[in-house]
Amino acid sequence: MLQLDICLRRYKQQYAAKAVRSENVLDTKDNKTRNKEKNRDYSQYFQTTYTPPSLKDAKKRGKEQTQILKDFTIPENLKNIGVGKKFYIRTYGCQMNEHDTEVMAGILNEMGYDVTDTSEDADVILLNTCAIRENAENKVFGELGHLKHTKANNPNLLLGVCGCMSQEESVVNRILSTYPQVDMIFGTHNIHRLPQIIENALFSKEMVVEVWSKEGDIVENLPRKRKGNVKGWVNIMYGCDKFCTYCIVPYTRGKERSRHPQDIIEEVRQLAREGYKEVTLLGQNVNAYGKDFEDLNYGLGDLMDEIRKIDIPRLRFTTSHPRDFDDRLIEVLAKGGNIVDHIHLPVQHGNSDILKLMARKYTREHYMELVNKIKVAVPNAALTTDIIVGFPNETDEQFEETISLVKEVEYDAAYTFIYSPREGTPAAKMKDNVPMEVKRERLQRLNSVLNDISLRKNQAYIGKVVEVLVEGESKKNPDVLTGHTGSNKVVNFKAPKHLIGEIVKVKITDAKTWNLGGELVVEKSEVVS
Ligand code: 5AD
Ligand code: SF4
Repeated sequence: MLQLDICLRRYKQQYAAKAVRSENVLDTKDNKTRNKEKNRDYSQYFQTTYTPPSLKDAKKRGKEQTQILKDFTIPENLKNIGVGKKFYIRTYGCQMNEHDTEVMAGILNEMGYDVTDTSEDADVILLNTCAIRENAENKVFGELGHLKHTKANNPNLLLGVCGCMSQEESVVNRILSTYPQVDMIFGTHNIHRLPQIIENALFSKEMVVEVWSKEGDIVENLPRKRKGNVKGWVNIMYGCDKFCTYCIVPYTRGKERSRHPQDIIEEVRQLAREGYKEVTLLGQNVNAYGKDFEDLNYGLGDLMDEIRKIDIPRLRFTTSHPRDFDDRLIEVLAKGGNIVDHIHLPVQHGNSDILKLMARKYTREHYMELVNKIKVAVPNAALTTDIIVGFPNETDEQFEETISLVKEVEYDAAYTFIYSPREGTPAAKMKDNVPMEVKRERLQRLNSVLNDISLRKNQAYIGKVVEVLVEGESKKNPDVLTGHTGSNKVVNFKAPKHLIGEIVKVKITDAKTWNLGGELVVEKSEVVS
């Protein structure tokens, strides 16, 4: 484990000291050598005078047990430090980051800070970053560029970078050398240290870097400011041990570690008491839930079977890995009730050789077997997936297998991505002979096949009555309300605003590729979810 508290000024001083020492030595040298030394790139000292986060260390998986910490407190002297001040958090990437943002908002609230939804009037700005693809990272660097002006207008502002990008040494180095407007960088394992990190940044006004490259603990009693009071995320596990060859997550999020069932169940009960309508059990690979318990034989199926008995109208889980999706879970999903009939089952590719290169540890045939089992057990299940195109050296024939798999499964929707090499992952070392133009064409063709299927599946809803959890006004038209079915279809319809937060029946009258339109139903009808 590396704990890195870095004060840039201290290192600048060290650098200066080194430079001065060099000058002294140079006094004895001739002018030619002296000029050469003067032109040397001293930025290296910034990189050698602190131990950077290390993807190599983050990859290690030891035998020691996960520590469960329950003693989080905010030190007395920091409890009111934010009174009269505001924070703004911009979240990039997946639901795990949304979850972390809720925790950081909870901590900041307890320090006296209020939330604001614009960066202009914030005293603390945090960018909770995503490292999964290069374009996600570029967005953050772009935003840091914009925030330079905000920082110049308000020198007291604290600007922080956290989330997955902070776990990468190349990112930390780039921020140190190019973005001096940043006041703090902290990692995914350091969120519970936010009060101390802010204190350091406030009082020293130096760039504070605290990134632990470790397997990770579980911190149980962190405060939380949830977004809304209708849908709640409940983390059931952290990290990932799958090490798919293209993916940075196992390096940025640590090892798979499951929360104790009792802690999860208590959290869901609390949400039920507070009137939440939907709970999503969250993890990078939820199907591995419980595999790290040493003295308990208990998996995701067992957990879902207990949680479904809690009085919460909708229960979801994400994200699944096909490899660990077992029969016990399928048996529990088949019980239906409050467990929604939507399963997100990332396939990534339709060709077994590419799946092998991706280290997904299943073949196309295994995946199809699983899909067919799910379809038999949960006949109404809407299936969605993640797909990568343009993995190194993907041939036309291999890509066509992705197309044929998509047609065979008939996904309701999919997230599709062009492969993006991630430094430090095994796939990034693979030579690639597929031009970007070909990758783009493949992505377009895949999306067009997926869209045709989505539209056809949505059209089958016309005339049916569905249950919709009303989430708010449509962004395009405030007279229209919007929400999701259990099967995760977006439904837009006109209805009074007091229904926001309720589950209502809607008759579908219109189907598009990405959403359904309908009319609010008052009388009782046949209902599909
Ligand atoms: N390039 C492109 N897509 C990726 N994903 C993960 N890593 C990469 C990468 N290096 C996709 C996978 C995953 C989703 C969250 O992001 O499809 O399921
Ligand atoms: Fe990444 Fe694979 Fe883990 Fe998903 S299962 S987070 S794709 S390594």
